[in-house]
Amino acid sequence: MRRPVTQVSGGEIGPPVIEFYRRLSRFLLVYKFAVEELMTKLRILSEEFDFVHRHDPIEHITSRVKRPEAIMEKMVRKGLEPDVDLIADGLDDVAGVRVICPFVSDVYRVAEMLGGQHDVTVLHSKDYIAKPKPNGYRSLHLIVRIPVFLSDRVEHVKVEVQLRTIAMDFWATLEHKLFYKYDDQVPADFADELASTAAIAAQLDARMQSLHQRLR
Ligand code: GTP
Ligand code: MG
Repeated sequence: MRRPVTQVSGGEIGPPVIEFYRRLSRFLLVYKFAVEELMTKLRILSEEFDFVHRHDPIEHITSRVKRPEAIMEKMVRKGLEPDVDLIADGLDDVAGVRVICPFVSDVYRVAEMLGGQHDVTVLHSKDYIAKPKPNGYRSLHLIVRIPVFLSDRVEHVKVEVQLRTIAMDFWATLEHKLFYKYDDQVPADFADELASTAAIAAQLDARMQSLHQRLR
């Protein structure tokens, strides 16, 4: 059985550790390609939709591949062995793409256009816009799977896509900055205030959406 990397400490870095990192790097490379593919798909949708409809449904896009330490931490947190072969099935968010849209209608439109592509499979979706989290968090989350064509094989890779408006992103970014260290233990009075700021962001979205529709 392969020795978990966490048990290797202090001493000389032996061949198993080097082999482990080599396999992990190769594994993560495929996720980097998946992110690049997905970014290209989204840029095409953005530019072509803008050309045809004179409205760009995407404001901007960011992406990240999870750091090796964060992957291993999450594997351990989920009670999984830190084995490279178990990561693909164990974690849905090794690769992440965040799509920021002007209006709520754009969030759903982009999700629909992306999910409708022949080589994109939507494995799960969580609509935190229709049903916000108790703290007020809103976004549409998709776990999609796309094929990545390598020199000798095709790999089907999962990517977490978070779609949200500028107002949702404003709230989520600041909430993360304020409360990431609390680990779900946000004091009650803060939680109420936080939920109320989320409601204001939702109202802003609704009013902007209404202006957008009236102008069209
Ligand atoms: P994780 O184990 O954190 O990935 O959560 P999950 O597997 O239950 O998935 P979920 O779809 O709920 O959340 C995935 C990601 O959405 C998180 O890693 C964050 O990037 C984002 N997210 C979810 N909830 C919140 C929140 O309350 N605040 C902020 N700022 N981001 C959130
Ligand atoms: Mg996550």
